[in-house]
Amino acid sequence: MAIDLLFKGGKVVTATQTFKADVAVKGERITEIGLNIKPDSATRVVDCRGKLVLPGAIDAHTHLAMPFGGTISADDYETGTRAAACGGTTTVFDFILQDFGESFPDSIKRRDAIAAPQAVVDYSFHIGVKDVANGLIDTMEDAVKMGVPSFKVFMVYDFGVTDGVFYQVLERSKNIGALIAVHAENNEMVNMLTSKYLSEKKTSAWYHYMSRPEFVEGEADVRAIQWATSLNAPLYIVHLANAQGMKAVTKARDKGYPIFAETCPQYLHFTNDVYKRPDGRNFVCSPPMKGKESRDALWEGLKRGDIAVVATDHCPFKKSEKNWGKNDFTKIPNGCAGIENMYPYMLSEANKGRISFNKVVETCSTNTAKIFGLNDRKGAIEVGRDADIVVYDPKANVTIENKKMHGATDHTIWEGVKLKGYPQATYSRGALVCENGKFLGKKGTGRFVKCNPIKLTSPDLNNMK
Ligand code: URP
Ligand code: ZN
Ligand code: ZN
Repeated sequence: MAIDLLFKGGKVVTATQTFKADVAVKGERITEIGLNIKPDSATRVVDCRGKLVLPGAIDAHTHLAMPFGGTISADDYETGTRAAACGGTTTVFDFILQDFGESFPDSIKRRDAIAAPQAVVDYSFHIGVKDVANGLIDTMEDAVKMGVPSFKVFMVYDFGVTDGVFYQVLERSKNIGALIAVHAENNEMVNMLTSKYLSEKKTSAWYHYMSRPEFVEGEADVRAIQWATSLNAPLYIVHLANAQGMKAVTKARDKGYPIFAETCPQYLHFTNDVYKRPDGRNFVCSPPMKGKESRDALWEGLKRGDIAVVATDHCPFKKSEKNWGKNDFTKIPNGCAGIENMYPYMLSEANKGRISFNKVVETCSTNTAKIFGLNDRKGAIEVGRDADIVVYDPKANVTIENKKMHGATDHTIWEGVKLKGYPQATYSRGALVCENGKFLGKKGTGRFVKCNPIKLTSPDLNNMK
């Protein structure tokens, strides 16, 4: 059979193995993996000697062109997915925010109309739940049928849901092949502490952290796990950033409950010290970065297998917008950039010896595909899957600079971070979309990927197909 593209002479990395092999692609799919595949039958041969051949990352958590914090997040579907491609991410899950009174299918149609003409890599959605009254809860099942089986509830923000609504959607999710994700922080505590610090004229970025310290997130994690385990419903905790929550996740998983935690590179790299910096407001996101004990607990959880997914929570705002909160932390739009940095950062940590490359592939791609119903298409270098492939150069040394990034943001919290190794090329369904830092893709070529209904009955993802 003729081959369109042959990745020759590299080392293939999966979630469990690393081995020398060539990878052949025909059209948009991987057709063969093996030693010494003949190059003369290939239209194009990519020399991968000395390189790693990895599945493209799947970013389970982005906010593109999202109205939030009095503005709209800086990256739209074009610039956000362009940056993703150049950081080795070939699928992004974006959060739709449901409007009040809007059915879930209508919210998907509304956002897909914006995403489809812009996306440069494949994408799917989760839906941020605001309103399940007046029969809207029944439309969850219609969204599952449309290929969007994951819903996020926010325990904070002015549109957050009550514990009662959270419980209701968890209960419903079990019967319709849906998964509930949660942003866990204690809203009342956040509001009380925020008022207290404002009244004391404590308004610097440090007080963003002080109004949302460890226990504010940890208590909400424990509560969320309580609701899910009492129903034996699967639960996905987004952007976990604290040690108490990590402990609660581990405990529930050890008891056999299907509880899955996601953390983000910013929580693995930074601590709350960033809020003491003069530009601390640029690091403001919720939950905030925590102390060293939490950061260490997240790394341990990742190594142990209790962090299932690493994703970015990419939600950047321009410097001028972050400046709204120079003298009042409550006016800082919450969120930071990361979509182009996740895979390079995590792979660099592997290259420096902190974790294995397999663990990075597992948590940035394979598990994400398994959890969100893409396991037949994405998340691995395997015959029959989409040719979403990253060629990684372990010898490249790169210092992150915003001016080298491909999104629309004018600053990054990752400025100056030194990486060992970097993605050299990214292929999206067999098409080269970035090479040596140059974006080569095309707007509108990214496709909506329909996720399968989700059935997670155990914490173990290893024997899932
Ligand atoms: O600060 C953040 N994380 N902004 C995005 C919205 C969210 O809570 O995920
Ligand atoms: Zn959140
Ligand atoms: Zn988020």
